[in-house]
Amino acid sequence: MNVGGTLIAGPASGPLKGDIVVPGDKSMSHRSVMLASLADGVTEVHGFLPGEDNISTAKMFIDMGVKIEWLNDEKTSLRIHGVGLHGLKAPDALLDAGNAGTCVRLMTGVLAGQDFASTITGDASLCKRPMKRVVDPVRRMGAKVEGGDGGNMLPITITGGKLNAIHHISEIASAQVKSCVLLAGLYADGVTKVNEPKPTRDHTERMLPLFGQPVDVADDGTISLNPVDKLIAPDSAVHIPADPSSACFFAVAASLVPGSDVTLKSIGINARRDGWRRVMNGMGADLTLLNESMVGKEPVADVRVLSGGLHTLNVDANDVPDAIDEFPVIFAAASLADGEFVLADAEELRVKESDRIAVMADALRAAGADIEEKHDGAVIQGLSSLSGDANVDAHGDHRIAMAMAVAAQRANAEIRIHNASAIATSFPNFVSLAQSIGMNVRWADEGEV
Ligand code: S3P
Repeated sequence: MNVGGTLIAGPASGPLKGDIVVPGDKSMSHRSVMLASLADGVTEVHGFLPGEDNISTAKMFIDMGVKIEWLNDEKTSLRIHGVGLHGLKAPDALLDAGNAGTCVRLMTGVLAGQDFASTITGDASLCKRPMKRVVDPVRRMGAKVEGGDGGNMLPITITGGKLNAIHHISEIASAQVKSCVLLAGLYADGVTKVNEPKPTRDHTERMLPLFGQPVDVADDGTISLNPVDKLIAPDSAVHIPADPSSACFFAVAASLVPGSDVTLKSIGINARRDGWRRVMNGMGADLTLLNESMVGKEPVADVRVLSGGLHTLNVDANDVPDAIDEFPVIFAAASLADGEFVLADAEELRVKESDRIAVMADALRAAGADIEEKHDGAVIQGLSSLSGDANVDAHGDHRIAMAMAVAAQRANAEIRIHNASAIATSFPNFVSLAQSIGMNVRWADEGEV
């Protein structure tokens, strides 16, 4: 677990104003390194997210013989010298995913196809998260996986090779599971198929064609990958749009602080990531899409946010997977809305970087909110402000820390958010960007708290 680091946040001293360019999309950054490393040829990636999670993925490939050159000091542009589908080398040591669930789950699919054994581990928080959801399908495809709790807990050792194609009918709406099976499918002897209970983010399906591999999505939602000989580095660079999951913190902050006017520049608006906007629109937020365009295969737009009275909402269950990473900050919005907010069917939140239902309920309650925890969601009665003057624990979960920093903007007194350093996993410059639009948030000095 990422321990340490205290943020001191709120209240905002005035309206939030300005344009914000948030870093590149975390999900796409992981996938870009994976596909480029497994391709024949050299791929340049621009807009890469240099967060700790994505660096863990890049480092894994470096540990398996892939040459990766950083093209700028910010580490947002890189050149990846692909080794081909069968060119990875057995690593000399454990592969460390750090805090990154996406890294470990997608890499389980990649490693299942290698003709060597490798062991993948992570930090204390990741070692508590369930892996059976990806271990079961790759075992059915023929890989051998050993690990704690029958292979459900890291570290796991994967001995791979040529795989059998399967049709995986997933019980969980999880893009990580779907992507793991598709990546393992690159090494399978037939057509790999996946069905999911609700559609989830489709970046793997959109990015594989850039590397010469179409993925078919049938009308009934069945996703199919034909047998693959090789992936080919694209002729032009892969560009990664700004991450809507990062932008959403500022959208909520601007909605909550009276008089605010903030524009989030060129963020991904893929429908499978746009649930946060549907939820916020449902709550009456004032969001306007401007300058819609495409970055590679992904739609993007500027989103202008004006502050506005948020109101009651019963979240549509269909929006849950499409907003799954945004619920911590949406809970913050709901705590300050007019009326009742109900979220159900979201038990997946309990197995993220922390138990996001319990941890957000504790933190918001300590800050003065009225939130009732449910097994699969929460019921929140909005208040006009939070009392604040509270110490809360982010439990090493980046999105909890940032969500509480947003909630604090409408508190009556500051909130001290402990164990917040995990922000670096997904959004290293969160604090400076937040300050640039006028949010009241800073890192505590040593010895201050
Ligand atoms: C991700 C999928 C989601 C999301 C995670 C990133 C991905 O996880 O929460 O932050 O990049 O595929 P699940 O697949 O477990 O829902």
